[in-house]
Amino acid sequence: RSLRRFLALEDFEPVARRHLPRQIYGYYAGAAETNAAHAGNSRALAALGLVPRVLVDTRARSTRHALFGHAYSLPVGIAPMGLSGLATFEGDLALAKAAAVEGALMVASATSLMPLERLAEEGKACWFQTYLPGEPERIRRMVARVAAAGYETLVLTADVPVAANRENNARTGFSAPLKPSLRLFWDGITHPSWSLGTFARTLASGMPRFENMDAFRGPTLLSRNAVRDIGARDGLDWSHLDLIRQLWPGRLVVKGILAPEDVTIARERGVDGVWISNHGGRQLDTAIAPMSVLREAVSAAGGMAVLIDGGFRRGTDVLKALALGADFVFVGRPFLFAAAVGGERGIRHAFGLLQAEIARNMAMLGVSRLDELQPMHVRAVG
Ligand code: FNR
Repeated sequence: RSLRRFLALEDFEPVARRHLPRQIYGYYAGAAETNAAHAGNSRALAALGLVPRVLVDTRARSTRHALFGHAYSLPVGIAPMGLSGLATFEGDLALAKAAAVEGALMVASATSLMPLERLAEEGKACWFQTYLPGEPERIRRMVARVAAAGYETLVLTADVPVAANRENNARTGFSAPLKPSLRLFWDGITHPSWSLGTFARTLASGMPRFENMDAFRGPTLLSRNAVRDIGARDGLDWSHLDLIRQLWPGRLVVKGILAPEDVTIARERGVDGVWISNHGGRQLDTAIAPMSVLREAVSAAGGMAVLIDGGFRRGTDVLKALALGADFVFVGRPFLFAAAVGGERGIRHAFGLLQAEIARNMAMLGVSRLDELQPMHVRAVG
């Protein structure tokens, strides 16, 4: 498929929507309860205007950007997303490979359908996101496994103490565990390009499984235990973070923080970075938009890395976050839609679009390097 008509990240979604069965599209696109947190993310970005500086020679501009001592080709990475393997065949690997080829960052997900070892080896993934229970023995096992695979950065997601209320999944019939039903079957046969392509190839290599949960390896999408385990993290607290910090030799990032007070606690407990996020509006509905707390988070961080995600779709969105002090931006859903539309090529195309937007807008904003961005480049609008 020619990707020429995909001019912006948002162009992938309508095509992916037609291609994917309703349950899978709904799981990817959806959010919790009223969708207010999800909608609020884009609104918070739209409520900021850029203030360009003119007559600056920017011919030497570059979108290169460093984080934890690595230089990336752009300041945007792929957020960890579960079940990416249903967007395209071996989707988790496609995301990792595309990012590696583009010199970009991709975070492998705890709920991916491919072993984290394979994502590190074949996909060159260096960041792994985990969901851990409040049980020291299981924490030890998982941290050891991630370290043995050679990952450099561990992301602990902290905003999933319980499974969220995603009514849209119930409405489309995307139940967990997946229950074979007439509706699923119907959606399968009415989306033959997905069923005969992605799904048939996936089944041919074995039933899709959660390969990277801590307690076990291999429960399938059809297993009730797997689902219960992912959604029951409510025993995890800061004392477990101390244990993880003690066990994990690499960089440690806590994802899903919104309160500046929690940024302070995380800093005091020795993490390397905080990831300001409301999980793309998929956990606590009406949770404040990360962009609305960014400045406070940056000042509480006191120089520690501040990462952010939620609703970023354009180069201008990314530039706003960097101007307000974010060190790196992550994008979720559009990369899954790009994967569904064009596999690894689609994902690379999405990176290319973002990078071109950022480079072009840097010129119009009057900056040659991303670290020249300042709060003066952004103002709240009405
Ligand atoms: C997610 N997200 C997520 N986060 C995480 O820490 N572990 C995970 O396994 C998942 N899984 C997941 C699946 C899907 C389908 C989506 C859309 C999201 C949240 C993700 O990392 C990120 O925080 C948001 O997706 C960012 O918002 P946008 O860019 O999708 O608006």
